[in-house]
Amino acid sequence: MAKKISLKQKSLLGLKDLSIEDINLILDTASSMAEVMKRPVPKVPALNGKSIALLFYEPSTRTRTSFEMAAKMLSASTSSLTMSGSSTVKGETLIDTVKNIEAMGTHAVVIRHSASGAPMLVDENTKMAVINAGDGANEHPSQGLLDIYTMREKKGPLKGKKVVIVGDIAHSRVARSNLWGLLKLGARVSLVAPPTLMPSEIEKTGAKVSYDLDEEIRDADFINVLRIQRERQDKGLFPSTEEYVKLFGITAERLKKAKPDIIVMHPGPINRGVELSSEVADGPYNVILDQVTNGVAVRMAIFYLLLSGKK
Ligand code: CP
Repeated sequence: MAKKISLKQKSLLGLKDLSIEDINLILDTASSMAEVMKRPVPKVPALNGKSIALLFYEPSTRTRTSFEMAAKMLSASTSSLTMSGSSTVKGETLIDTVKNIEAMGTHAVVIRHSASGAPMLVDENTKMAVINAGDGANEHPSQGLLDIYTMREKKGPLKGKKVVIVGDIAHSRVARSNLWGLLKLGARVSLVAPPTLMPSEIEKTGAKVSYDLDEEIRDADFINVLRIQRERQDKGLFPSTEEYVKLFGITAERLKKAKPDIIVMHPGPINRGVELSSEVADGPYNVILDQVTNGVAVRMAIFYLLLSGKK
């Protein structure tokens, strides 16, 4: 285990404001947690007596399940609330819900919400640790960390490595958390999207903006492929799925233009045949299920570093 055993802040809200030291601490601690996961009985008593609430106001398969598994592997107890199953539908405010969860003796709340900034609002109104599991189009820090962990696991330190992030950058919290974390660790980041899905002035972050995927993948070490949010099509943000696939879809044919050791990543859920062909989604370049496995170790590290040794 790393020498320093806790994060400076009480909550994990995003990677934009997380120090390089704390990013590396989480990644190094996740390596220790990955060892725990390989044991015949993958469970340690580190968070025995701690209670964690999962508050998911948007659907989730990976994030919610892996936060729950991570808590259980550290011997914490969990409770789970969804939008439709909570008193939110009766008009209770988010802050009142959180204060009630805190009053039951809960130590941490993991929150996913459609509104950017919701976890920050919760953090200001509770003594509990708050973990952002995705807020609107703002950040998804545990996804950013598990992506970075996976990249580091596959190709070593990220300084100088080229990462292409392709897809709906404008609406993607995954893109933003990747961007902040990767730039801090010295990676070169190229953002590729149709002009309508590229945020204005995003190049001010230090990332390169490009509309030419074939050019960008030539010397890339990683491609992180974002989900095309079909719900946006109604708003006319790109002309047609066929045209999107032609210009921005990742196919085996397109990957012939890349380095032979290129690694293809996707946070899930995948739209097969849209942003990724099935051949690529199931093929030798992809590490998508490794990302999912690593997500449990990274989330164990987050819980451990926020909660262990604290009252
Ligand atoms: N990557 C991700 O956030 O997936 P879920 O929406 O299934 O949690």
